[in-house]
Amino acid sequence: MAMNPLRIAPSILAADFARLGAEVEAVTTAGADFIHIDVMDGHFTPNLTIGPAVVAAIRPATKLPFDVHLMLLPADPYIEAFAEAGANILTVHPEAGPHLHRTLQRIKATGAKAGVALNPATPASALEPVLEELDLVLVMSVNPGFGGQKFIPSQLKKIELLRELINRSGKDIMLEVDGGVDPQTAPQAIAAGADVLVAGSAVFHGGADSYAANIRALRGPA
Ligand code: DX5
Ligand code: ZN
Repeated sequence: MAMNPLRIAPSILAADFARLGAEVEAVTTAGADFIHIDVMDGHFTPNLTIGPAVVAAIRPATKLPFDVHLMLLPADPYIEAFAEAGANILTVHPEAGPHLHRTLQRIKATGAKAGVALNPATPASALEPVLEELDLVLVMSVNPGFGGQKFIPSQLKKIELLRELINRSGKDIMLEVDGGVDPQTAPQAIAAGADVLVAGSAVFHGGADSYAANIRALRGPA
């Protein structure tokens, strides 16, 4: 089965929060494919970030899909609020609720696409039973909580395993890698089978004039 075209999803965690709307516009113009939004609750993750009100506030800044990564425990009570705020993809961690299949159904009932995110220590097999329900699989190549961490190379093997699993399923499921993605690690993730690259610090540096070149550097040589 053919892989999807490579997509770049800048994580606004690394953007200037005082100018969030302008930052979203800038990466849109610079050639981003998705806007990745990291939602952290200070409980599942050691950090606290943004809620549905901020997602709604930046929704008018772009037509690009909002790829919302819910690092929430529990995630279920917030699904509808994020969907109403403008999320197009909602991704949850299997550790963040006792009934992953039900959570995915609840996401799909909102009309959003459903994703599952795997922590570095969570095996690929955790999502095998729910593969049928998935539009996206997110492989965390850092431990959730902060931008600017170092890519964990052992996750490449997991990306390869998931690429095989997805291809065998015959389903159109995006395979996203998140954490420490930069021009050095991006080619490794792509070679392993990833087709969506999340990048925070590798995109949001050097000012808005640099964003297009930063995104291009992740796509590799043209
Ligand atoms: C980490 C987040 C990532 C993070 C990536 O918990 O899920 O999306 O923002 O940031 P970088 O690209 O700087 O590693
Ligand atoms: Zn993320």
